[in-house]
Amino acid sequence: LSSPIPCTFTNIWIILFAFLSTSSGSHFPKNFKFGVSTASYQIEGAWNVSGKGENIWDRMTHEHPNWIEDRTNGDVACDSYHQWKTDIELINNLGVDFYRFSLSWSRLLPTGFSNYVNPDGVRYYNGIINELLKNNIEPIITIYHWDLPQPIQNEGGWPNIVTAEYFADYAKVAFELFGDRVKTWITFNEPIEICQNGYGGGGKAPRIFSSGVSDYLCGRTLLMAHAKVFHLYDRHYRHKQQGKIGVTINTGWFEPKSNDPKDVAAAELSLQMMFGWWTNPIFSKTGDYPLLMKDRIANISRAQHFKRSRLPNFNNEEIKFIQGTSDFLGLNHYSTVLASYAPLPNVIPVSFSNDLNVKTEVDPKWIPSAATWIHDVPWGFRKLLNWIKGEYNNPPVFVTENGYPDVGQFNDMERIHYLQGYLDELLKAILVDDCNVYAYSVWSVLDNMEWNRGYTLKFGLYHVNFTDPKRKRSPKSSVQFYKDFIKSSRKFD
Ligand code: NOJ
Repeated sequence: LSSPIPCTFTNIWIILFAFLSTSSGSHFPKNFKFGVSTASYQIEGAWNVSGKGENIWDRMTHEHPNWIEDRTNGDVACDSYHQWKTDIELINNLGVDFYRFSLSWSRLLPTGFSNYVNPDGVRYYNGIINELLKNNIEPIITIYHWDLPQPIQNEGGWPNIVTAEYFADYAKVAFELFGDRVKTWITFNEPIEICQNGYGGGGKAPRIFSSGVSDYLCGRTLLMAHAKVFHLYDRHYRHKQQGKIGVTINTGWFEPKSNDPKDVAAAELSLQMMFGWWTNPIFSKTGDYPLLMKDRIANISRAQHFKRSRLPNFNNEEIKFIQGTSDFLGLNHYSTVLASYAPLPNVIPVSFSNDLNVKTEVDPKWIPSAATWIHDVPWGFRKLLNWIKGEYNNPPVFVTENGYPDVGQFNDMERIHYLQGYLDELLKAILVDDCNVYAYSVWSVLDNMEWNRGYTLKFGLYHVNFTDPKRKRSPKSSVQFYKDFIKSSRKFD
């Protein structure tokens, strides 16, 4: 057979150039996996269709539209409930290894409790899972991505420890229904957002303002619920279903603003309180919350005349119950800030943010995005991966989210620049620093309902026209970029 491209001198240079310009993905380890992520409330819509029950985001956006920047909600969102087949085609077009999506608890169990399983919900997720497998894409399920059934919130929601039991009942239903085909499970997505933003004074549903107590109670329930579900899987399903189960924790990188030990300590404190709050109990040798966090909240609580620390403790049995309950560390990472020391404010008002109280800012030279909290700072990613390696003995890391928000341009060069930079740093962390990262996922497939920012912030590789009743999807330039990147990483397999 003759070669389709004649082997002239000029052609060799063109081929070499093409190789060099697309080879950046080519050195990822052979079994490294690339994927994309979404979450139920952000894309599905169909909020009250086919038997779905109400969840806390439905309730909050309906009762308080002004808490969402553009006064929208997820009632229709990307309409993925009806267009899931198209979405899988779009995902397939990227050439990814996996698709990470979440189950809507209220779609499967409309009351929140496992007394009734909604057949349409089961059909919906079975359709997605089967279609993915048909296309050789691994389905990866997040069990909880923020959409708590309203009836469970009515019983107190996550600060109530009983919610851990109902969560385990729900997870069991999911393992029974889908575990024969789903081999990677993630219990929770970003616990700090659920607790600090949901119950500690942030903007997320159910937006309950506590006095620096409920956020930590929520955290305690989540850690117990996670461990419970891990043990459930481990004891009753792992052998039969041969899958793995972990949790996704988010953090930015906190770079000390200066070498002043106070700034260095402020950066470390931030990581320990934001990330270590969750990772220390699960992944560290000691278990339990980070010591820094325990001491700090105990001291502040004392100064506030509380009779006990607002951070509820774990006894030894509970510490052992939680420790080691993850097959991998799911990491959502987007950006970096400069951290510096700030004196503790006067003791009131009480909240997680005041307990942490570190000054953060950004370098004006960093490339911004449409979100104040995201800048294009790829070296922070590498530093964070190295910190995780050192802190938790190089656990297997699955980067479950990384992405860049803009206001919706098709020729999304900033997103491409961001992704290229972060993927390059990831590669260095793996090859040069020996960080044990085995998978990476872009947030997100589609522009979608970005929580309190509504539809004003776009993370999608595909554009969605939200004024079109059909929610037409169209590729942005980053589709081709990611596609090429993945392809070139497989070139020498
Ligand atoms: C993390 C969350 O998991 C996801 O739901 C959100 O849309 C992205 N970050 C972007 O903010």
